[in-house]
Amino acid sequence: MTESSGAFHDFEHAGWQRASVEYDRCFGELTTQSIGPLLDAAGAAPGLRLLDVACGPGYVAAAAARKGSVVTGVDFSSAMVAIAHDANAGLDFREGDAENLDFPDSSFDAVVMNFGMLHLERPENAIAEAFRVLRPGGRYAFTVWDTPEKALAFGIILQSIQAHGSMNVPLPEGPPFFRFSDADEGKRTLTALGFVNVLSLQVPQTWNLQSGKSLFETFRAAAVRTAALLNAQTSAALNKIQSEIESRVEIFRIDGVIRLPMPAVLTSALRPR
Ligand SMILES: C[S@@+](CC[C@H](N)C(=O)[O-])C[C@H]1O[C@@H](n2cnc3c(N)ncnc32)[C@H](O)[C@@H]1O
Repeated sequence: MTESSGAFHDFEHAGWQRASVEYDRCFGELTTQSIGPLLDAAGAAPGLRLLDVACGPGYVAAAAARKGSVVTGVDFSSAMVAIAHDANAGLDFREGDAENLDFPDSSFDAVVMNFGMLHLERPENAIAEAFRVLRPGGRYAFTVWDTPEKALAFGIILQSIQAHGSMNVPLPEGPPFFRFSDADEGKRTLTALGFVNVLSLQVPQTWNLQSGKSLFETFRAAAVRTAALLNAQTSAALNKIQSEIESRVEIFRIDGVIRLPMPAVLTSALRPR
């Protein structure tokens, strides 16, 4: 698989191998909403050499290819890479680790990562790797979820667990999930690693769901850290958590569909010339 290791890294890898098909089925409608702003920040255009890191099913790489960019997608999950290949014949998708990229220095004009950063054991290593493989003057852009007060699926699930279950379950320790939702933290981290012109903006997104039950089931089957947190609860607690989620989402129902605000934070930067 990869040279990187560590309990959290291995936990994430096993989780994505398991969740890949459900992720593609359930999350694509949501995570593709940030692709336009992400590719604008990366300057996607005909001929641009673009690397999509933690590409998952390949949504961003495929969109960049439609703009004429020359794309490569990497993901450490062979199951995700297989889905990306099947959906996008002819595009270059490979297994690889964000923290240890198998590309020469200065080999891309742009590097992007859509909702990958919060899954990395050592995000600084991935940012340093993006810097290394970018040519001087190249652009870096990544998205993460906004805080749970704004990206409400997270807020609702976490509050429901706090109300009826336990947050104190044995999981491999990972970096703070919402670290890069904070624009100042993004700026500090990228600047320390050599990037300039670091900018952050919020990307509005809406998750259209049929029911609170589908939200609950999606997180149990198609996520990793939140899935493990849910799946570690007792069955009595899980029943109450599900009911709490189902009742909390109902105020977002409009014309029969639950429309949950799920904004992203997009951070972009330049490798200096
Ligand atoms: C939330 S999904 C995002 C997928 C896709 N970028 C999208 O826009 O929907 C996170 C992806 O990060 C990948 N991933 C997590 N840690 C990784 C690592 N260290 N190296 C490469 N890929 C990683 C997972 O396999 C998964 O496909």
